[in-house]
Amino acid sequence: MGSALLANLLLCLLLVAGSYVSGEVLDKRPNFVVMMVDDLGIGDIGCYGNDTIRTPNIDRLATEGVKLTQHIAAAPLCTPSRAAFMTGRYALRSGMVSTGGVQVLLFLGGSGGLPPAETTFAKRLQQQGYTTGLVGKWHLGVNCEYRGDHCHHPNQHGFSYFYGLPFTLFNDCVPGEGSDILIHLQHKLQNLTLLLGIGLITAVCVRVCGLFEVSLWLLVPLFLVSTLAAAVWYVPFGFIPTWNCIIMRNQEVIEQPMTVETLPQRLLGEAQNFIKRNADNPFLLFFSLAHIHTPLFKTPAFAGKSRHGRYGDNLEEVDWIVGKVTETVDSLGLASNTLMYFTSDHGGHLEDADSLTGQKGGWNSIYKGGKAMAGWEGGIRVPGIFRWPGRLPAGREVDEPTSLMDLYPTLKYLAKDTHPDRHLDGYNLMPLLEGKAVRSEHEFMFHYCGIYLNAVRWHPPGSDSIFKVHYFTPNFSPPGAGGCYDIKICLCHGEHVTHHDPPLLYDLFRDPSESRPLSPDSEPRYAEVLEETAKAVERHRSTLRNKQMSHDTHSQASTDSHSIQNQMTWEKILWRPWLQPCCGTFPFCGCKENTPQ
Ligand SMILES: *[C@@H]1O[C@H](CO)[C@@H](O)[C@H](O)[C@H]1NC(C)=O
Repeated sequence: MGSALLANLLLCLLLVAGSYVSGEVLDKRPNFVVMMVDDLGIGDIGCYGNDTIRTPNIDRLATEGVKLTQHIAAAPLCTPSRAAFMTGRYALRSGMVSTGGVQVLLFLGGSGGLPPAETTFAKRLQQQGYTTGLVGKWHLGVNCEYRGDHCHHPNQHGFSYFYGLPFTLFNDCVPGEGSDILIHLQHKLQNLTLLLGIGLITAVCVRVCGLFEVSLWLLVPLFLVSTLAAAVWYVPFGFIPTWNCIIMRNQEVIEQPMTVETLPQRLLGEAQNFIKRNADNPFLLFFSLAHIHTPLFKTPAFAGKSRHGRYGDNLEEVDWIVGKVTETVDSLGLASNTLMYFTSDHGGHLEDADSLTGQKGGWNSIYKGGKAMAGWEGGIRVPGIFRWPGRLPAGREVDEPTSLMDLYPTLKYLAKDTHPDRHLDGYNLMPLLEGKAVRSEHEFMFHYCGIYLNAVRWHPPGSDSIFKVHYFTPNFSPPGAGGCYDIKICLCHGEHVTHHDPPLLYDLFRDPSESRPLSPDSEPRYAEVLEETAKAVERHRSTLRNKQMSHDTHSQASTDSHSIQNQMTWEKILWRPWLQPCCGTFPFCGCKENTPQ
């Protein structure tokens, strides 16, 4: 009896001491739950003006937190936008930008990816003692030189836990949905193989029938070799679902090819479990959703429920998932100590639609253009919501320009990370979010299309104007269409763009849809805008040049001195068998996750 009493007393004392300690560190560092949807448009969400899609959970985050109305992705396409997001700097600085036709990583068996020398916000937080997890899509590379070196893998980039898609969800993952990978090259190789094969047979026939003299000794080996070569190049495409549609847990491939139907449940479960496991220590969860990229999911609970077909069903599923994550944070009592963030990697994909399914890509509201349409607003202006009850005012709206690259410095600031860093292009958002600042530090913003500087945004001090100059714009196809419907994605080079000299100028404050280009007659500041943006470009370019020249700086920031290697060259993009992640014995890769469902 006595000893039980003593034990109780001790327990009480411990509890009191415990709460005293946590009281001491009241100012303790917050958790971060970062949620990113793939290809979501700003017009897809209720609190951004959509009145036919039900997104009560996302809207609730905005009511309880801060909604950004001019939140800008650093690129209108996944790989460069995500590289910039993760590193807090334009993708050009990490070489994650393309000069030509291929603008995103295409194979897990390629060697391109986020360079090991780059620093992500996850790495900074990890160094500050945070437990860091990535659940969902990565799409920033895996291996460099051999299978399993994992030089670009999330575990190497600051995430102590990874569960999800080292690649992305895309059409090839579901039979019958078509292919997203080098479809033109596939056709060419297929035709070439066929043609050479036919040539071979014809040559043999001609000889056998004795029509005329052909030296078989020359012809047959020639045809055989070229047919084989064409076929060998073509064959890997048949295996795309096995090569690219895989799930990894940390560095282990646990499903290959993946079962798409159960993916939403599994990703959500992993995200929730990560939060639960780490409720007691500062954590970062980056929940990078596989939605709303095609192929669209057919989850029974949502199928046929929305007013916008399967795309709408998927949107409402996204909202439900966001609600579940929020519920997990709240039910563990973590709300007042957790900064939650919701965004999209870039705008909706307007060209993605067919007569059967109807709309398959996102909706960018009043903004012109969409995914992969260079600097047009629809491809880069995305939803941005921050919630942190008690710290951030509820229901606040920030209309100033902000960037997805701002997340890096914001998290760093909140994690009290004051160590030296490389040149960042983002700014700490807390002053704006808390209402302590009214002006964004982004006086200028640079919009890239691949490796090319494509447009510049200027928010002049003391003015409401948001000027945007476009140095070039993508050529829509067919001409006059609102996108590149012929090839489904706009490109940034050569005959695919039109250069403008003088540049096209708009004021987004008065003309958010970029429909009325300004002229010296209609805009008194016309000359000044061109002059100031040109100067800003010069200054911006000098920060890029410094990077390559500062070889002898010995500061911590010396990661800047690594010369940038382009990660998006053909040589790095193309599939190589020895880089291919694989469960089992290559090339017989295949496994299924054990799911207790
Ligand atoms: C709401 O979203 C759906 C799905 O993207 C879209 O088709 C519709 O046009 C949007 N409505 C409004 C008012 O933005």
